Amino acid sequence: MKTETTIHGLAASLQSARSAKKIIGFVPTMGNLHEGHLSLVREAKKICDVVVVSIFVNPTQFGPNEDFENYPRTWEQDSQLLVDVGCDIIFAPSVEQMYVKQPVVTRIQVTGITDILCGASRPGHFDGVALVVTKLFNIVQPHYAFFGQKDFQQVAVVKQFVQDLNLNVEVIASPTIRAEDGLALSSRNGYLNAQERAIAPNIYQSLLQAAQALQAGTALAEVLHGIKEHLKRVGFSIDYVEAFTPDLTPIQSTDTDVVLFVAAKLGTTRLIDNLHVKLITA
Ligand code: PAF
Repeated sequence: MKTETTIHGLAASLQSARSAKKIIGFVPTMGNLHEGHLSLVREAKKICDVVVVSIFVNPTQFGPNEDFENYPRTWEQDSQLLVDVGCDIIFAPSVEQMYVKQPVVTRIQVTGITDILCGASRPGHFDGVALVVTKLFNIVQPHYAFFGQKDFQQVAVVKQFVQDLNLNVEVIASPTIRAEDGLALSSRNGYLNAQERAIAPNIYQSLLQAAQALQAGTALAEVLHGIKEHLKRVGFSIDYVEAFTPDLTPIQSTDTDVVLFVAAKLGTTRLIDNLHVKLITA
């Protein structure tokens, strides 16, 4: 496995693969890798000849009071995991390599679907994601790029700008990977203390209960209220509990595909999760 820290270095490393018309797969990450990331690398390896993983904690997607400085940076552990899973190249640029001119003056903004959920709670977050992912796609020029469905809205944003900007990459979304107790894997789980970690699986449990209730015919508003009450009772503070269609449009009474979304905090740690529910029609 090679590690490249510069755009030129990466281009040189990929040159022979490109001339041999090899299929290039790309998994963008901010490091502190867990099984969720590794599952994306495994997916990539199934259909690609060369797999590039980027490790870059992207400052433009963090708000002023968010955890950019403290975001876990675990280089040694990450590179060992990537060797083990068969990654071919790590791209680990510095902030200066990615953003030559600072402050950054260019924006890539997907409107509409970023006005809701995490876009509403974290203003500017998806502009930062769209900018860095566009740059990474231009730098790596992959045939396929792999993202986790835990970040459902992020996947929707990426798919939207890939289509609108005619970027030549196919975006593949893979299912959320969970701990045995159901907690969606996330780098931020590492911030939880033991007591919070024991409470955290309630998010998924409340989503599963909600799915059952919806399928049994309980009204959506009541189901969403039920999730909120459950989570507040066990110690969460709620950011949002909402439902949208898989296209992130408001639910109409005739919709049979509903995605439930939760963002909630335990102490200072903000966790997100979602569940796609198919309603059984008569
Ligand atoms: O999901 C993430 O880790 C980040 O948002 C991404 C896609 C690597 C962009 O910085």
